[in-house]
Amino acid sequence: MSKLTQSPAWLALQAKAEELRAQRVVHLFAQDADRPARFSRDAVGLHLDFSKQKIDQQGLDLLVNLADQQDLKGWRDRLFGGDIVNNTEARAAGHMALRAPASVAMPVNGENVVPTVHAELERLYSFVTKVRKGEWRGYSGKRITDVVNIGIGGSDLGPRMACFALAAFVDGPRTHFVSNVDAAQLTALLRKIDPETTLWIITSKTFTTQETMANAHEARRWLLRSADESAIAKHFVAVSTAHAEVARFGIAAENTFGFWEWVGGRYSLWSAVGLPIMVAIGPERFRNFLDGAHAMDEHFRTAPSISNLPVLMALLGVWNNNFLGCSSHCLAPYSQRLVHITAWLQQLEMESNGKHIDRQGHAVDYATTPALWGDVGTNGQHAFFQMLHQGTTLHSVDFILPVKAEHDLADQHRMLIANCFAQSAAMMRGKTAEEVREELKAKGLQGDALEAAIPHRVFAGDRPSNTLMLSTVDPYHLGALLALYEHRTFVQSVIWNINPFDQWGVELGKQLAQHVLMAMAGKDVPLDPSTRSLLGRIL
Ligand code: F6P
Repeated sequence: MSKLTQSPAWLALQAKAEELRAQRVVHLFAQDADRPARFSRDAVGLHLDFSKQKIDQQGLDLLVNLADQQDLKGWRDRLFGGDIVNNTEARAAGHMALRAPASVAMPVNGENVVPTVHAELERLYSFVTKVRKGEWRGYSGKRITDVVNIGIGGSDLGPRMACFALAAFVDGPRTHFVSNVDAAQLTALLRKIDPETTLWIITSKTFTTQETMANAHEARRWLLRSADESAIAKHFVAVSTAHAEVARFGIAAENTFGFWEWVGGRYSLWSAVGLPIMVAIGPERFRNFLDGAHAMDEHFRTAPSISNLPVLMALLGVWNNNFLGCSSHCLAPYSQRLVHITAWLQQLEMESNGKHIDRQGHAVDYATTPALWGDVGTNGQHAFFQMLHQGTTLHSVDFILPVKAEHDLADQHRMLIANCFAQSAAMMRGKTAEEVREELKAKGLQGDALEAAIPHRVFAGDRPSNTLMLSTVDPYHLGALLALYEHRTFVQSVIWNINPFDQWGVELGKQLAQHVLMAMAGKDVPLDPSTRSLLGRIL
């Protein structure tokens, strides 16, 4: 047994979970008229209602004790102090410095990095302004109409998600994203764009990622089919920390935008990796995006745990995962604009906390991050919500709802809101056999037919959810929302005593892909029999 699972705070929570197992959430509401107000919090324009969670005040206090016991305060100080929190790579994690205003000092490894961050932002803003104003022209003198980001993982998911989420604020060139080594994605795009008016952003922290490099080389060949080498300088820019690799690809230093090794890929959209977002919405709105995230940083850094949104969401996640037995966590944004947030959050959470080894190198004896998945409401209701309501496994849900729509179809927005609230209410309250019986009787059903119909229509209820509301999906509130989830991930890593900033689990597959490629080229490399057999069929 680990120290964590034997610790007083953990054992007290186990006992609390036992006690609450017999309770129904609807009864918790019946016992406490103030529950909706007492189990909700506001910060940075976001409203978190967690009253539908199976938790009471004592349980909440015990969760806060767990955070204290795991030294959340100390870890938060180390994170914001720019200390080495990524122990396996000996790196700090300074993504908060990327969104700090110029007047704020933020150290990383003992040095205030905010001036360096702002100097790079200025370079980016100056470039972006030229592209948006049409001063930056393609090789034939035409203005840029399309900007394509080639990158994968953290070098793709954040900008892709934000550009789509903020479509109502886009007044720059069209943005496109190519990530997959499956060239179906690139070739489909090439059919729609014009080499004379397309700008390529090659985004890769390492500038060695196989998929990105394959797509980048192909994009370059495509350009050179209609232009000579001098066109590269007009049509290719790079975002990377690996300046030597960028130069080897043929992109000049003045067309390279940098970030730093203390920015993890999945925490990088606030840096030069956000270049497609800047191109799409302009520097001023990008600054609003950073400001929203910075305001959430300040809230996370200073608010007491009991009213701290990221801390509470993290602790409730731990509660559901480690004490109530939830099998996974589902994200249900009731906003078409947030359709790509799940993929971004999957990388954030599962690459950060999908680990079974603690900071000291020991295997853990508790669950770490659950699978995270989901889709926008109302689409998900007609796909997987059946399992959420009546499946044999328990899943927690974050319902995310922008209060104001970007469009003026008020009736449809009202329907969206009604569906969002209805689903979380249904998950909580369920429907008893008695209720079903009365309903069916009123419809004229009787006897055996009535009895046979009842079990299929009963809902157990007590399925936990948060409702997170933001006034609207604008740059400021989107920034705050994303930073909220980043810090939630960090807090959970502290509770589970794992390093959220490395990702060794992705390495083996990358190595083996090289082996398979070598085998395909006729080299004699050791492969397991199954892989050899699969390859045999293809060859
Ligand atoms: O393979 C995982 C990963 O390293 C992610 O952590 C990262 O976001 C992605 O690949 C892309 O890496 P890069 O920006 O170096 O191309």
